[in-house]
Amino acid sequence: MKYINKKLTIERVSVESIAKKYNTPIYCYSYSKLKENILNFKKNFKSFSPLICFAIKSNTNVNLIREIKKFGLGADVVSKGELMIAIKAGINPKKIVFSGVGKTTDEIRYAIDKKILLINAESKSEVLEIDRIAKLKKKKVFIGIRINPNTDAKTLSQISTGKKENKFGVNSKTLLELVSYCKNSKNIKLKCLSVHIGSQILNHRPYEKMLNVLDKTLNKLNYKFEFIDLGGGMGISYDNKAEKLNYKRYNFAIKKFLKKNSSKIIFEPGRSIIGNTGVLISKIVYIKKDSQKSFVILDAAMNDLMRPALYGAIHKISPSIKRIKKSKKTYEFVGPICESTDKFSTLKNFQELKEKEVVAMSDVGAYGMSLSSNYNLRPKASEILIKGSKIKVIRKRQKYNDLM
Ligand code: LLP
Repeated sequence: MKYINKKLTIERVSVESIAKKYNTPIYCYSYSKLKENILNFKKNFKSFSPLICFAIKSNTNVNLIREIKKFGLGADVVSKGELMIAIKAGINPKKIVFSGVGKTTDEIRYAIDKKILLINAESKSEVLEIDRIAKLKKKKVFIGIRINPNTDAKTLSQISTGKKENKFGVNSKTLLELVSYCKNSKNIKLKCLSVHIGSQILNHRPYEKMLNVLDKTLNKLNYKFEFIDLGGGMGISYDNKAEKLNYKRYNFAIKKFLKKNSSKIIFEPGRSIIGNTGVLISKIVYIKKDSQKSFVILDAAMNDLMRPALYGAIHKISPSIKRIKKSKKTYEFVGPICESTDKFSTLKNFQELKEKEVVAMSDVGAYGMSLSSNYNLRPKASEILIKGSKIKVIRKRQKYNDLM
């Protein structure tokens, strides 16, 4: 997004015109940003050409997944629904990995039928269940096991997954046991060691520590894995000051790891692919003046964008038309939902705003729409994809009838 003649613009389309034509709240994605992110991601790790499995949970829009697929990416899914949408988008099942701590019998059956690349198991019980179903189906199923490396990802506690107190993965003792179990099984073949320590990681050191744990574990195991799945988690910068993940150092650490352990690397990035491609456009319904501050009540709410309420996340807010005049009051941007956490940001020195004007919230492409809900029985927003000056509606606004 940038201002052209004081108008906030996505590729070649102004935010103002989108709001007029398609109504608000609306999620808009930039195709060129998506392309740039994918090409950069590939470039960062090109020396070992990993299999990049887009984490569907970050954005489940089938049209966006279709675009991502065209760059050769696979998918990381965590439910039958996500597996179905990945397949619907045309992703080759041989590029799909299935993660998650609680895959049901039905989900495992479906994944086996679809012949996906790997089911990444996260407990002994799950391995036994996959084995049982594979036997019934008389199929040899390829699996991975997720290790919990007890590594602090140094990110928000709510999105940290790699410490021993977290529910994810198995410890090295259980891993050892499961490796020998799989060696003796006729129905499952253990092909992958997987790990994912958390999300929105901006420092390469936790990744280095994670790789050290994997290296030590592999030394002890003496088992050759065809794949090492390093998960996702690469953070993006939500404000311009924030530190950035040093991809060179992460790439270097992986190359060092691969010298000793030659396997195909899998990544499961979500946010780093789609996060900064999306903005949420919203209209100001009312401005309510208080002695201390003014509440800017938007038509977008926590049901449309949960991240601020869930994690205290900050998404930059920009007015659709730039003006010089600043407000003397502090603006608190809120939604209309009956919860005090339905609040996006409190900003000082913002330009003066008027009712019915339009603003855009940045970097909402990942875990924006996918975390949205119908709370307060509000219909879900629509989504559009912008390519230059072309606009494609990629999800229609939900109708009230769908909610009744
Ligand atoms: N692989 C696994 C097994 C995961 O659990 C996740 C994210 C990913 C890959 C993708 O991680 P990414 O590259 O997007 O960081 N709702 C939160 C984020 C939760 C992430 C959950 N797992 C947020 O809005 O920040």
